[in-house]
Amino acid sequence: MIANRPAPAGTRLGELWRILPEEATATDDGVLEIGGVAVTELAERFGTPLHVYDEVGLRRQIRRFVDGLHARWADSDVLFASKSLPAVGMYRIAQEEGLSVDVAGGGELRLALAAGVDPARIHMHGNAKTDAELRMALEAGIDTIIVDNEDELDRLERLLDRPQKLLLRVIPGVEAKTHASQATGGASSKFGLPLDQAERAIARMQAHRFMRFEGVHLHIGSQILDTAQFAEAVAKISSVGSFGTYDVGGGLGIAYTYDEQAPAVEDYLDAVVAAARANLPADARLLIEPGRSIVGRAGVTLYRTTTVKRTGRTFVAVDGGLADQMDIALTQQRYEAILADRLLEPWTETAQVVGRQCESGDLLVDGAAMPPARVGDLVVMPATGAYAYTMSNNYNGALKPAIVFVADGAARLVARRETYDDLLATHAPAMAPAFA
Ligand SMILES: Cc1ncc(COP(=O)(O)O)c(C=O)c1O
Repeated sequence: MIANRPAPAGTRLGELWRILPEEATATDDGVLEIGGVAVTELAERFGTPLHVYDEVGLRRQIRRFVDGLHARWADSDVLFASKSLPAVGMYRIAQEEGLSVDVAGGGELRLALAAGVDPARIHMHGNAKTDAELRMALEAGIDTIIVDNEDELDRLERLLDRPQKLLLRVIPGVEAKTHASQATGGASSKFGLPLDQAERAIARMQAHRFMRFEGVHLHIGSQILDTAQFAEAVAKISSVGSFGTYDVGGGLGIAYTYDEQAPAVEDYLDAVVAAARANLPADARLLIEPGRSIVGRAGVTLYRTTTVKRTGRTFVAVDGGLADQMDIALTQQRYEAILADRLLEPWTETAQVVGRQCESGDLLVDGAAMPPARVGDLVVMPATGAYAYTMSNNYNGALKPAIVFVADGAARLVARRETYDDLLATHAPAMAPAFA
């Protein structure tokens, strides 16, 4: 296996395997394989742009969380933060591997239920849930609603006609070291209530005949690489009071670039559980909600090069772009890109890997080392398994890419590519003869 051999001179293959899916390697002629299937075959069969997931590595990562948390804290549960990859096929895997799921509103709830997720394993989030969404959650019989604010309590007072488990989201006052748009636990957060307002909301829930107040929830943010911050949040939340359940959110970061290092799942769990032992009641139920750290490394995006321009700088343009990698604009996330069918050639050129959307900010990778690119080459962006598919959009008429899961030499389609007919479907009212 090439992944186990020393990297050829002039490449960064050594660092590359760390950010590619666990089950990635290359053929002897330098074609990237994921889950035993060559990217050339995937591109041929499913087209590009394509989200490709290593299902074996994904399931292994889930087990690290599920087994690791249970081994450290018996009364616990791992909730998959499904916003990171809300795909029916992913909800199925989550359920099969022993994860509960959290959904952020009605759309993710519908997807989870369609996948057959047991409602007793679903938690619902959202800082602006509507009556309709709360009704959907209550009718489905989901396990827990995570209440964000007192308006939501007004709504629940009107809607509840039987007992419902609730957690209250609180703001722990921890400023996570991450991009500002991903920090959610600081004093100015729009999510949850500050600690000094939590008491009144809790009293309301405790006084209501159908509200079963179970405990508190926090989430300090996403793409956090310092485990001490999770421990700090656990310590802060303990000051709210002594409850039956503490949900300490998600947020563990992953390595996106050759130079980045991310904590291992085990180190993260050690930090969270040590803080729980030191600060929380010993008989409390402990919940965590990882998203990115479950699916991020398992997925890559596969593109085909459409244009190569050398105009002072080298622009390698691919058949997708910002529309399917929104977090580049939203959080300035940095990625790497490789020529996935020419891995063993010396990486002698530094390329601006750009997309096809009409923005200069549609720069997928600023300075990617690769062999001199040609039209038709396959480009892979590693570590795009979280938040890429879900944030993809139709800017410039872009179509949402397909998702493929690969395991043991076989690939299966999990979500089909959007079509131009899909794009037109929502505009049917304006195309009806009566419209003119
Ligand atoms: C409430 C909540 N829980 C969990 C997560 C998952 O975070 P991450 O994907 O960083 O693990 C998020 C996402 O930001 C969130 O808002």
